[in-house]
Amino acid sequence: MKSLGIDIGGSALKGAPVDTQTGHLLAERYRIATPEPLSPVRMAQAVAEMCAHFRWRGPVGIGFPGVVQGPRICSSANLHRGFIGCDGVKLFSKAVGRKVGLINDAAAAGGAEMRFGAGRGFHGKTLLLTLGTGVGSALAYQGVVVPMELGHLQWKGRAAEKRVAASVREKKDLSWPEWGGRLNEYLDLVERILWPERIIIGGGVSAKFEKFSRFVKPKARLVPARLLNHAGIVGAALAAETRA
Ligand code: BGC
Repeated sequence: MKSLGIDIGGSALKGAPVDTQTGHLLAERYRIATPEPLSPVRMAQAVAEMCAHFRWRGPVGIGFPGVVQGPRICSSANLHRGFIGCDGVKLFSKAVGRKVGLINDAAAAGGAEMRFGAGRGFHGKTLLLTLGTGVGSALAYQGVVVPMELGHLQWKGRAAEKRVAASVREKKDLSWPEWGGRLNEYLDLVERILWPERIIIGGGVSAKFEKFSRFVKPKARLVPARLLNHAGIVGAALAAETRA
């Protein structure tokens, strides 16, 4: 099966056709920068542009950086507020001309890592964190992936993602030991509630895992995502089949 996976993020949409049996990208990924937060209507146009770029007529799955319940988008911490309460499946399906699958971006990445990446063959409790513009989270156990919102845990007076997202390290110019120390404290908090056996760190920063991993010492085994920042695209493509 082949599906187009689209990963909507804080600063860009990324997409590629994916072989959903192997998790391999079938073409070089395409990126549409979104320096300004796009309104839902303009985001839908960008999704249509992505499909046009690949001349795509097959299934489409979309990972969105907010809470998704059924067809509805319920939160949008780092994108346009107009998404809150909107029927995302209807919005994007209309733009694409067929019914799309819609899934939380971190749950998409988690599904892809569990099937093809750092969680492959492991069925114990696994926490996947994507560290990017915000902090995405999903918990996997015995083949089931559950979207979480651990980036919005209140920690030291604000949402945790405002202190530990990769974007915060860049914006505040934090050194690796400084940022790694923050991540270490945050994981300590999360571990007290969830006790995962394995923690997979995803997002673009996973490519720099060796720069910060020695400052992060959770009880669980800490590993970088294997699909790097393709996980969101691959997971969205998987959702095209299960959710459309
Ligand atoms: C959103 C999550 C999302 C994460 C990563 C958070 O702000 O609330 O739903 O998974 O950012 O994009």
